[in-house]
Amino acid sequence: EESKKIVLEEDQSLPKATRAKVSKLADLRGQRVRVFGWVHRRRDQGGIIFVVLRDGTGYLQTILSGRVAQTYEALTLTLESTIEVIGTLHPVPEGKTAPGGHELSVDYWRVIGSAPGAEDAFTNRLNEKSDPSIQADLRHLVIRGENASGVLRLRSYLLNAFREAYASENILEVNPPCLVQTQVEGGATLFKLDYYGQPAFLTQSSQLYLETCLPSLGDVFCVQESFRAENSHTRRHLSEYTHLEAELAFIDFNDLMSHIEEIICKTVDILLANPITAGLIKSLNPSFQTPTRPFTRLSYVEAITWLNEHQIQHPEEDSSGNPIKDEQTNQINMVDHKVGDDIAEAAERQMTDIIGKPVFLYGFPAELKAFYMKKMDDKEGEGEKNVRYTESCDLLMPNVGEIVGGSMRISDEEELLAAYKKEGIDPSPYYWYTDQRKYGTTEHGGYGLGVERFLAWLANRYTVRECALYPRWPGRATP
Ligand code: 4AD
Repeated sequence: EESKKIVLEEDQSLPKATRAKVSKLADLRGQRVRVFGWVHRRRDQGGIIFVVLRDGTGYLQTILSGRVAQTYEALTLTLESTIEVIGTLHPVPEGKTAPGGHELSVDYWRVIGSAPGAEDAFTNRLNEKSDPSIQADLRHLVIRGENASGVLRLRSYLLNAFREAYASENILEVNPPCLVQTQVEGGATLFKLDYYGQPAFLTQSSQLYLETCLPSLGDVFCVQESFRAENSHTRRHLSEYTHLEAELAFIDFNDLMSHIEEIICKTVDILLANPITAGLIKSLNPSFQTPTRPFTRLSYVEAITWLNEHQIQHPEEDSSGNPIKDEQTNQINMVDHKVGDDIAEAAERQMTDIIGKPVFLYGFPAELKAFYMKKMDDKEGEGEKNVRYTESCDLLMPNVGEIVGGSMRISDEEELLAAYKKEGIDPSPYYWYTDQRKYGTTEHGGYGLGVERFLAWLANRYTVRECALYPRWPGRATP
């Protein structure tokens, strides 16, 4: 009853408060400050209310005591309400901890937008026990959490760090289109759409466009969404993902792998040199280890041998790719790998987890790879009859598996025309891509890196779904 009568007013005789974001408070200790944010946590202790305020830039412990803790608004203050607080910033007392090492003694505050309590309270809508499909429906609320927002914050810094690494190598950023009329990685995973009465697709990769930039801008990279209509429900597949791709001219296959290693290590170094990102990585992935250089390089043929030596098998498949079951036990038959087999996700994951550090797998059979890839010279083809290998590489990381796919490209026009034919691709919509081989061709190569996969490795997330703002996977395009 008493509390309803208390109405707070700001004491105008106090020094004027400086408005600041939480991340900028360190320099304002001892002063009166004004901060806006959301109620992240609340704890009551002997008439004192401790509110942790969140403003997106950080967390601030605020202390409401005396009159400011006795108002009706104070007693009914709910999590996720927005408030304005004004008070004096003090270092935390000896032996205590708080974010930033300081806390705010509030002398005036007000509610801006109160969040519901009771049944509709935030923690009733969403908590750690909510099942995954509810969490997915409530992604807009999930991202308010410390871990989810930490991952997204790190993602932002990660993209900046990549850009800085490319800038240091004089590689220019370009912005290719999302709406396209050519495929890159096979028709099976294209999202088709009607484009003013013409067939068009959402891009799978900007690679072909990047190749056309070489004679114009030199080495280039892009950060663009790629779309894959893959019916994969695995923890590393999205239907839309952020694709970091680069293309380099006048290089050989060895240069390509060294460059990928260089960009990745530079990017990690940039992140670790910044206390904010180093701290984020430490809190999300306490056992993170900087990769040691050079990265191991394992040929595809060596990898097949390695898998067999480590008894990592794969399901036996019939001619249409379905697993074969044993008639008596009804168990799937597991068999050794042989040259020509695709190394599937499960085997690849086991391999990277055992090796425990980045590995380049290179030299995949042409049959397993896209049409544009340069073939290795026969003598490099490691012996096996009738198998043509390509100058292709995947970079595998522990806990995630493939994060980069790259290759040298066919530079000869005739060879490219033959490759379209072999793949059953009509060359006419690719006239502009073919022209690259006509007007001053060169050896060149590039790669694509899945940003969510890289982040899953860096922040030790279980799935790439945690690494996209609003992840899309089969059946999911909401929110
Ligand atoms: O290996 P991919 O399909 O290669 C290409 O698209 C090349 N054209 C890139 C190039 O050379 N410019 O894809 C490259 C990377 C993969 O290594 C993986 O990290 C990521 O893109 N990726 C996916 N990430 C999430 N969900 C999916 N469905 C992905 N498909 C590929």
